[in-house]
Amino acid sequence: MNVLVVGSGIAGLTAALHAHEAGHAVTLVTKGAPGDGSTGLAQGGVAGIYGPDDSAQQHAADTMDAGAGLSDPAAVDVLVAEGAERIAELIARGVGFDRTAEGALQLGREAAHRHARIVHAGGDATGAAISAALIAAVRRTEISVVEHALLTELVVAEGAVRGIRVLRDGDTTELHADAVILATGGAGRLYAHTTNPTGATGDGIAVALRAGAAVADLEFVQFHPTILASGPAFLISEAVRGEGATLLDDAGRRFTFDSHPDGELAPRDVVSRAIARQASAQGRPVRLDATMLGAETLAARFPTIDRVTRERGFDWSREPIPVTPAAHYLMGGVVTDLDGRTTLPGLFAVGEVARTGVHGANRLASNSLLEGAVFGARAAAALTMPWRLVPVPAPPAAVRPPMEDRGSDTPEFSRAALQQLMWDEVGLLRTHDGLAHALAIVRAWTASSSRPTTTVEHEDANLLLLAEATASAALERTVSVGAHHRVDAAASADAAPSRPRSSILETV
Ligand code: SIN
Repeated sequence: MNVLVVGSGIAGLTAALHAHEAGHAVTLVTKGAPGDGSTGLAQGGVAGIYGPDDSAQQHAADTMDAGAGLSDPAAVDVLVAEGAERIAELIARGVGFDRTAEGALQLGREAAHRHARIVHAGGDATGAAISAALIAAVRRTEISVVEHALLTELVVAEGAVRGIRVLRDGDTTELHADAVILATGGAGRLYAHTTNPTGATGDGIAVALRAGAAVADLEFVQFHPTILASGPAFLISEAVRGEGATLLDDAGRRFTFDSHPDGELAPRDVVSRAIARQASAQGRPVRLDATMLGAETLAARFPTIDRVTRERGFDWSREPIPVTPAAHYLMGGVVTDLDGRTTLPGLFAVGEVARTGVHGANRLASNSLLEGAVFGARAAAALTMPWRLVPVPAPPAAVRPPMEDRGSDTPEFSRAALQQLMWDEVGLLRTHDGLAHALAIVRAWTASSSRPTTTVEHEDANLLLLAEATASAALERTVSVGAHHRVDAAASADAAPSRPRSSILETV
């Protein structure tokens, strides 16, 4: 069959390669050049290789726990069961994961993982290594690659997706297919501060929404705790804390233990909020202290971070560096089943654009590349299977709040104004009033916008649609859970996980 894959990160490249290897005619469409997306920037690695004390069951329990209990256990089981096979496939396709002197895979640890189980390449350049190997693999095939083409619409005929419209060099073109696999990534560019590349404007979710596909969990936006608080957003991998780095307040105290017994290795949402609160209390960024690791280890294990921090004037082997949270990952997206099928026949979604259910309310570190590889392969395998109805997750059991705005004039629209509004009101800490205010402004901007024609206008329209959907979902979920934190909620605690670790161990 003819298959269109939209997006060129790990999920899209894996889906394209598997579909091609299964004998389908595959066209890969990408907004920029292949590899321009988030995958290439990933530092930490891919979770899923288990040492003697570890197991897939323990990885599943950590994933559920980080997800605040809202992950779908069936999806998590698939993720951890198929991870090792996909990592072996990446190695076979040429990814040189780092190895010990004895030749075993080196395993790193990150927050909320009870064991070191994360494979990495080039120290902290895992995404770049994966991206390069998979793009090279695609180039060795007959997969056609259409570059610099922005997805603007799904072509739907008789209730099924039968192609896409793309904007390329100012012209709109229609591409037809028997199936479309969306792998367009997330929407970090909704926010003023983000680790995401410029292309992360939620295009896939927006076109799927307009075509009537179900989306869910858009209120669950992950803010990574440690971005260098100097210059353009630059990630300081969680693996640095996994190796022992600590977070310090102005008095040199490890403040994260006030929020969670696991301190710096608590789930990401907890650490991000603890950092934001401490920075606001002390009026300047908190600091990440990696000095105990020593210059040699830092340069060998984290060469990219070592280079960039030094370029920005910091010697992190001698002094703690300022860090601050930034938008990093969208747990929600287009609803799929365990094979990437969406609620629209003919349309699959894989990777960050999808809401498979694995991440719940907060993604566990280094589960995103894993999810892209596992579900990318599964979607390709499901192309020829009979279409099945995809169940839609129940919305939050909350009373729909009244939609009042605290009232203000609508400022003039610009992408920067939208990003600042989202950062201020739909960010790490949320209130009903702030969310309602953001929603009213976004709706006013949408009402006064005209039909998009250029790439930038299409992206702005997509961001506005995503902003409205995210703020609405955040308003509707009136309790705090995982990355969605309502400071005005009755019960909102950043305390220990809902179930103690020991009881999780007993249940797996
Ligand atoms: C990191 O290296 O801290 C990011 C990894 C991830 O987002 O899973």
